[in-house]
Amino acid sequence: MAGRLQAKVPFGQSALAVLACLLAATGCKLNQFPQSTLDPKSDYAWAIKRLLDQQVFWVVVIFMLVLLAQLFILIRFRARPGAPEPKHIHGNTMLEIAWTIAPAIILTLVAVPTVLTIYKTQAPAPAGSLHVRAIGHQWWWEFQYPELGVTTASEMFVPVGRTVAIDIETVDVMHSFWFPAMGGKRDAIPGRVNHMFFAPDTTGTFLGQCAELCGVSHANMRMKLIVNDPEEFDAWVERQKSAPVHPDSTSLAARGKQIFSQGACIACHTITGISAGMIGPNLTHVGSRSSIAGAIYENTPENLGHWLTDPPARKPGSLMPNQALTPDQVAALVAYLTSLK
Ligand code: CUA
Repeated sequence: MAGRLQAKVPFGQSALAVLACLLAATGCKLNQFPQSTLDPKSDYAWAIKRLLDQQVFWVVVIFMLVLLAQLFILIRFRARPGAPEPKHIHGNTMLEIAWTIAPAIILTLVAVPTVLTIYKTQAPAPAGSLHVRAIGHQWWWEFQYPELGVTTASEMFVPVGRTVAIDIETVDVMHSFWFPAMGGKRDAIPGRVNHMFFAPDTTGTFLGQCAELCGVSHANMRMKLIVNDPEEFDAWVERQKSAPVHPDSTSLAARGKQIFSQGACIACHTITGISAGMIGPNLTHVGSRSSIAGAIYENTPENLGHWLTDPPARKPGSLMPNQALTPDQVAALVAYLTSLK
C-alpha cells in the first residue's frame, strides 16, 4: 500500500508536465511551417502580430480573473449543512450596470487597436514605393512592374527595406493574394483593383499561396517572394529587361525556338521578340526562375519536360492543353526554355 502511494504522481504535477511538453513541442515546431503568420518579416505582418499578442494578453488576463472569481464564489458560497438560504440578488441594479459596463470596456480594449491597425494597413502606400501589379490567373500569379518594364510569373522579386505597393487584380475568377510572412490576405476580385503595401525587413525566399477557392487547382496556385539586397534586385531587373539571347542556329535550343515560334505556344505566351500571347505566363526569362507551373515544381529540365509532355496530368485543370509533343520536340523545347535566363 505504502509503495503504491509513493509511486503515484500528483495530478497537478502531471498536468503541468503535459502542458510544458505541448508548449515546448509547438514552440520548436513553429519554424517548420514556412507559411506561418506567426513569423512576421515585414512592417505589415508585425502590425498584425503585435495586435494578436496584445489581444492574447488581455484574453489571458480576463480568463484568469474570471477563473479566480469563479473559484472564490464556489468556495465562499458553497452549500453548508444548516446554513440559511442565500440572499437573492435578482434585479440588483449595481450588478446589472457592472456586467454591462465591464464587457463594453473589454470590447473597447479590443476594438481600438484593431481599428487603428486596419486603418494603418489599408492606408494609401507611401510615396516612392515599388509598384507591382499582382494578377491572378487560374492557376498562377503574374507580376508586372509597370515602372520597370518587367513582367514575370509565380516569383515576385523585391528589394529589402523598400515598401512595395501591390495592385491586386484577376483576369478570371476571385483569387486571394497571400504571403503569410508579409501580412494578411487580400482578395483579387474581377472588375476591381485591391491594394496592399508592405516593406520586407529580411532577405530570403518566402512562400505564398492563393487563399480563395478558385477552382480545381486552387491548392496549386502558389508563389514565391524573393527579397534581395537592393543591388541584387537592381541586377535582377537589368537581366529581366535585357532581350533573350538567341541560341546558336545549329543547337538543340535553336530547334526548340523554331518549334515554339511555329507552334501553338505563341498564342498564349510572350517571349520578347518572338510572340505576344497574354494567356499564359510570360516566358522571356523563364530559365532564370526557380519554379514553374504556379511555383509547384522546381524548374529543372526533367520537370519542365514532364510539364510540356502533359500539363493537365501535372496540374489538374491546367488551361495549357496537352499538345501531343513528341519526346524530341519536348527535349528541344526544354533546351530552348532553359536557355532563356
Ligand atoms: Cu486562385 Cu485559389
